[in-house]
Amino acid sequence: MRTSRPVVLVARGLPAAGRDRLAAELEVIEGGLDATAARVRELAPGAAAIVVDPAVAVGEQLLEAAGPALRIVANFGVGHDHVDLDACRRRGVFVTNTPGVLTDATAELALALTLAAARRLTDAAAAVQEGRWTVLDPGAHLGVELTGSCVGIVGMGRIGYRYAELVRPLAKEIVYASRSPSIVAERELGAARLELGGLLEHADVVSLHLPATPGGEPIIGRQELARMKPTAILVNTARGSLVDAAALAQALRGGSIAAAGLDVYEHEPGVPRELLEAPNCVLLPHIGSATTRARDAMARMVAADVLAAVGGEEPLNRVV
Ligand code: DGY
Repeated sequence: MRTSRPVVLVARGLPAAGRDRLAAELEVIEGGLDATAARVRELAPGAAAIVVDPAVAVGEQLLEAAGPALRIVANFGVGHDHVDLDACRRRGVFVTNTPGVLTDATAELALALTLAAARRLTDAAAAVQEGRWTVLDPGAHLGVELTGSCVGIVGMGRIGYRYAELVRPLAKEIVYASRSPSIVAERELGAARLELGGLLEHADVVSLHLPATPGGEPIIGRQELARMKPTAILVNTARGSLVDAAALAQALRGGSIAAAGLDVYEHEPGVPRELLEAPNCVLLPHIGSATTRARDAMARMVAADVLAAVGGEEPLNRVV
């Protein structure tokens, strides 16, 4: 039964660091990790705040279901392509996200994926786990070294910059493609700005660190993959829709690039079969921000913004 305290609907889940903070002042309703869109809408009427994550689409239907009490949609994560910002704006509903606190975690995961793809770690680990390592073969599991390589970074925001700092000691050269120049990346890390096409042709590693495109179109498709070196590695910890999965699987099968490391997919938690079957492809389940430190900080940020908005103040991490 609902009390007279304002209601916050946590559409799926929120770590205790944020949930407990919310529960101290508001009535918290949780949909649970398996909540469907229909279930979230069913729980929404009267909510003053809704906490979402990339698995929860926020559009007219959900906003309408919540009704006029809704003050804020607080996103547990930095990317907000699943939220209809215009619809929220029209209704005077704040939208917030959690920038900064997941930068290290996500950049470190991109580095881990880069190395895992370069050294074929999943195949090599599987050989041990499955008892297939029966002979010391000097020709087996051969990978490439990052030392002396050219690392290409697409999107030089917070996470792209941190990834550049992490790879700097290994790479001979850092190139980046970005809407605007990053003076600090050029000055501090010696990074050179290129057009995307030039970067794809030049880099040994291409790592994506940019939001989804407004229409969800890929920026890496068949033509872009064809421009990459046959020895190159593609890493994506940003958004699945940035890469045409079928084209990537074909490029890996045909050897037009060497390897890929992916943490994100267009229709999560679904992973396209062709990627599951593609060679030299390291696949992770969207764990870029999955460290206790980052997730707790994200949850505290969400709670602080919800409490501010419900209390009639402007939240700190406002997108809308
Ligand atoms: C983000 O912050 O957008 C991440 O993808 C969420 O895990």
